[in-house]
Amino acid sequence: GARRDLAGRHVVVSAGGTREPLDPVRFLGNRSSGKQGYALARAAVARGARVTLVSANSALPDPAGADVVRVGTAVQLREAMLKAAPDADVVVMAAAVADFRPATYATGKIKKRDGQEPEPIALVRNPDILAELSAERARPGQLVVGFAAETDDVVPNGRAKLARKGCDLLVVNEVGEHKTFGAEENEAVVLGADGSETPVPYGPKEALAETVWDLVARALPPATDA
Ligand code: C5P
Repeated sequence: GARRDLAGRHVVVSAGGTREPLDPVRFLGNRSSGKQGYALARAAVARGARVTLVSANSALPDPAGADVVRVGTAVQLREAMLKAAPDADVVVMAAAVADFRPATYATGKIKKRDGQEPEPIALVRNPDILAELSAERARPGQLVVGFAAETDDVVPNGRAKLARKGCDLLVVNEVGEHKTFGAEENEAVVLGADGSETPVPYGPKEALAETVWDLVARALPPATDA
């Protein structure tokens, strides 16, 4: 269907997974492919939105019609989101952001030395970008959407996370051994700060993307032509 219900809107979507460098050749990372965030970006373009995609280390091709900003680390992702957010009607954090990063960066490759035990890797906390975007609300009426992966007690855990982060919608993915990370399909429930609960049956990430935009389009304040 040619629903142009996001025409005149600017949406900012993060996708992929951050990489936190240890030295010039090594990093701490995660298995996020970027598929869900890219599906969200493509669907938003199709529905008429201006789309900024902040992409962390995804191998996927740039979605046609989106502005793509490439980042590596959580700190860079935060900067790109804070830069784009003031102009956005909707912000979606679909990226898998590392909770921690190495406390130090070695400018030369870390070497193993004969007879020496390895140094432990000290970590420091990364900023919680979703919580920050939710608290700031760069624009009145701006909608903030987060993602969460839970293995059990999906709804109660999701509700607690939604409250903690302060976002409007939280897409809670049910994850298990063969589910979600890098997969083509997933199963989710979308929780709203208004108490709503929208189950999304096991299916393609494109279908979940459409459900997210359906809920967003319904919740957005009327468009202004400013
Ligand atoms: O706390 P948790 O990692 O489960 O939360 C997931 C949600 O929070 C996702 O939307 C993710 O993009 C976002 N997040 C973030 N900054 C972090 C960690 C997660 O924005 N440091």
